[in-house]
Amino acid sequence: MSVQVQGVVARGKGLPVSLETIVVPDPGPGEARVTVQACGVCHTDLHYREGAINDAFPFLLGHEAAGVVESVGPDVTDLAVGDYVILNWRAVCGSCRACLRGRPQYCFSTFNATQRMTLLDGTELSPALGIGAFAEMTLVAAGQCTKVDPAAPPEVAGLLGCGVMAGLGAALNTGNVTRGDTVAVIGCGGVGDAAIAGARLAGARTIVAVDIDDRKLEKAVHFGATHTVNSTNVDAVEAIREATGGFGADVVIEAIGRPETYEQAFFARDLAGTVVLVGVPSPDMRIDLPLIEFFGRGGALKSSWYGDCLPSRDFPMLVDLYLQGRLPLQDFVSETIGIGDVEAAFEKMHHGDVLRSVVKFDA
Ligand code: APR
Ligand code: ZN
Ligand code: ZN
Repeated sequence: MSVQVQGVVARGKGLPVSLETIVVPDPGPGEARVTVQACGVCHTDLHYREGAINDAFPFLLGHEAAGVVESVGPDVTDLAVGDYVILNWRAVCGSCRACLRGRPQYCFSTFNATQRMTLLDGTELSPALGIGAFAEMTLVAAGQCTKVDPAAPPEVAGLLGCGVMAGLGAALNTGNVTRGDTVAVIGCGGVGDAAIAGARLAGARTIVAVDIDDRKLEKAVHFGATHTVNSTNVDAVEAIREATGGFGADVVIEAIGRPETYEQAFFARDLAGTVVLVGVPSPDMRIDLPLIEFFGRGGALKSSWYGDCLPSRDFPMLVDLYLQGRLPLQDFVSETIGIGDVEAAFEKMHHGDVLRSVVKFDA
């Protein structure tokens, strides 16, 4: 039997989101229905509702979530009713050219549920990033459910489903930050702070946080920054060099997604250093840099998609580190809110008031 629950829907470009009754089908082959317990509000949700991702309205928003498996499709064997899971948007296929080469974290053919959730009148919903978890229940592919230790509360665990994983992975997976490295992170929102926490976890000796908001820099110190730079009045490149013996950082992580801050990252790395772009640019952005500097500096210019994470490998491990007190995931949760408060949370995002607002569902 399909079920009807409340969900946060974006009906049209720029329109405020609305709470709607949605129909969640019974899971078919390869699918699972999950009772959502918590779901973080991410920039990508806002981008969907602004029509910046595509025009497939109406969207069912929410994609950074944890919950409990409510039912599974007939052929699903590796997931059971009652399993505590983080939802991921990288259910790897196992058969594309990336998977076949043993690099499933780059899977080019990830998948979602086959059936669609709908509005009451039958209109098909497009779930954000193939998840749609601002809803009491959602339908996903079984591979989108990653089992983790249920001792981690859902509002904390769910964060690994998107933004915090992106930042942690930018440092740990894409940047390969290792013991003794110098690291700079430009932009200290939730993603940048997670990159800072990842760099600390990996043993970086110097972590320079760059932002234009002193409140964000304070938080950055909490997550592990050893130096802070407010780039409103100070040249970020010079300041990063100064903090790294005059050389620049081994790994510079850009966590905003803008040409001017990418340029700072480009020039703030040491010879043979790495730049990681984890901030998401918009399609109109361009950059003009001297090609000789690409060549002359050596090293690597990388981008980090979902922190190059492999959910089955990374989520349980990071949850364990959290439970051991080695990764302060709980400090990314600025507030827990109700399902009706998503629009207000978008507003707070604009003002830089929060790292993460997390919708918590009644048990
Ligand atoms: N220089 C330095 N810091 C800046 C600048 C700038 N020119 N412009 C903005 N910032 C800072 C903001 O003050 C804020 O602290 O960058 C941070 C951005 O953080 P959030 O807006 O909270 O965004 P976050 O959720 O961290 O995501 C960052 O990663 O996943 C992507 O889509 C996401 O592109 C976004 C980026
Ligand atoms: Zn694949
Ligand atoms: Zn997201």
